[in-house]
Amino acid sequence: MPGFELWSDAERKEVNDVLETGILMRYGFDVQRKGVWKAKELEQEICKRFGSKHAHLLSSGTAALTTAMAALGIGSGDEVIMPSFTFVASFEAVLSVGAIPVLVDVDETLTLDPAAVRKAITQKTKCVMPVHMCGSMADMNALVAICKEHSLLLLEDACQSIGATYKGKSLGTIGDAGTFSFDFVKTMTCGEGGVVLTNNEEVFIKCERYTDHGHDHKGVDRGADLHPFLGYNFRISELHAAVGLAQVKRVDQFLAIQKKNYTALKNILSQVPEISFRSIPDADGDSCTFISWFLPTEEITRNVVNELKALGIAAGNFYWYDNNWHYVKKWHHLKNATSLNRLHEDQKTALQKLTLQDFSASDAVMSRCISTAISLLWNPQQIMEKGEKIVAVVKEALQKNLKQA
Ligand SMILES: Cc1ncc(COP(=O)(O)O)c(C=O)c1O
Repeated sequence: MPGFELWSDAERKEVNDVLETGILMRYGFDVQRKGVWKAKELEQEICKRFGSKHAHLLSSGTAALTTAMAALGIGSGDEVIMPSFTFVASFEAVLSVGAIPVLVDVDETLTLDPAAVRKAITQKTKCVMPVHMCGSMADMNALVAICKEHSLLLLEDACQSIGATYKGKSLGTIGDAGTFSFDFVKTMTCGEGGVVLTNNEEVFIKCERYTDHGHDHKGVDRGADLHPFLGYNFRISELHAAVGLAQVKRVDQFLAIQKKNYTALKNILSQVPEISFRSIPDADGDSCTFISWFLPTEEITRNVVNELKALGIAAGNFYWYDNNWHYVKKWHHLKNATSLNRLHEDQKTALQKLTLQDFSASDAVMSRCISTAISLLWNPQQIMEKGEKIVAVVKEALQKNLKQA
């Protein structure tokens, strides 16, 4: 997810505008900033580009999830249904508002299995949180229907899927709220940063205040602000917003290159009939940051992963099943409820039950999956070489498996 790969004069120019004024904060200093409002400008650009009524920038994608949950009224004891395959930030945000992450299986979309969501609904369920992993989407029609049927909130973690769409709508704009991350390795970056997208004005206003100590932003100066509720400091700086402002104007260029490189690599991998690909509910909407592919068994997949490592071409080919950050199997700190501060007993009890939970359906998918990150810097020759090396490794592993059978 490499916005950073194409660093340019455009980013330097936007940052320099801020350095010229010396006003690094997004609020206040109206005279000194001489009309330079990078965070505000980026919010407007995001609304325009991604088709959201409102956008509120903040310091990270994690802060965006936390803020969205608070603004949607998710709190103590509420259950949030989320997938077993995501980044740790998704459950960190749930826990930070006092709620309980309820982990359910993923299917070959690598996101929430709608049938597993249905099964997990209880009296305490407040929200369903699909995580649009690796650039592509959950089955949003199915999830929207479930949320309507059970009067649940729908919060989209689209941190990894900037620019992806589902039936013409940007991911992150379909639910009650959605989030993007603009950390250093996302499709577009601010260095660090994130955004909450929502079409609900009340939710937007709550986000805007919550991320700035609850200040109501109505005072004639900042010190005159009142506090309709408690808040925190999750502000983005003008320097970070300036980088994002340059990047959002280049995001279509990034997405076009990603799509081209993805298609070229997919054509090569498709030569092997035993390779199958991630199922994508709306293939036209894939942002193509990764190509995720499956092999017939865990054993063959492990052999391929090991060989890619041995040949020094493992970088960029992710085997999430063994990854410490992204899959439930290795989230020992979560399952042991290891926290610096005391968690609520309900949270602790729920987390400790995760050790006993059956994730075999997710294991069956994730243990056979490899995701190859798509670079913007590859040329056609490099794609060909990379693809052919992978194909050779896969064919050898399939042969070895046949011999052993
Ligand atoms: C799915 C997902 N959600 C949330 C986040 C958190 O974003 P940030 O790193 O900006 O806090 C990430 C970051 O990698 C992510 O991949």
